[in-house]
Amino acid sequence: METITPIDSRDEQDETHMTPVSATALRDAMGHFLTGVTIVTTRGVGEPYGLTVNSFNSVSLDPPLILWSLDLGHDRGDLFRQAGGFTVNVMGSDSDCEELIRIFARTDTERFSGADWHWGPSGQPVLACAIASLECRLWAEYPGGDHVIFVGEVVNISTRDGQPSAYFKGQLSAFPS
Ligand SMILES: Cc1cc2nc3c(=O)[nH]c(=O)nc-3n(C[C@H](O)[C@H](O)[C@H](O)COP(=O)(O)O)c2cc1C
Repeated sequence: METITPIDSRDEQDETHMTPVSATALRDAMGHFLTGVTIVTTRGVGEPYGLTVNSFNSVSLDPPLILWSLDLGHDRGDLFRQAGGFTVNVMGSDSDCEELIRIFARTDTERFSGADWHWGPSGQPVLACAIASLECRLWAEYPGGDHVIFVGEVVNISTRDGQPSAYFKGQLSAFPS
């Protein structure tokens, strides 16, 4: 006969037998999860801002919501709050797009001068390298440990043909066609 462990005693077992998960172990495990790569851009304050992000995911169809998370250590949250929105640019795999992915992940680099971009209908920057651009109004934000989770309401979409860039175990590659 199957024995069902009561939730209370399962909790006790967890506390006595589980060792805390390190940031390195979690990063390594998450590296096994294949993702696409985005550059999230915003009007910012005075000049556009953007960063490479792979924590992007869909949330809801009605209303149309997506999310991504921002490292609090970057101290960039107010740029998104003051702009009231952002664009999630799903990046293509051409070599110039991969170069942008690297540039937008590097600190202290001039990010937009080498990029082909324009202001989208919502007033947020849209990158020409994107195979899909989802312009969003900032809908909500939630605490997420050392990150803040931004939820955006999608207000405009543009797409183009092209292969996506993929990220796996710390490496960028073209998604096989
Ligand atoms: C593939 C990839 C995915 C990333 N995903 C995220 C993410 O989801 N959230 C985040 O805050 N930073 C992420 N980063 C790191 C940021 O891109 C990087 O720290 C940021 O550009 C630093 O910007 P700053 O110099 O303006 O603070 C990612 C980097 C790479 C290479």
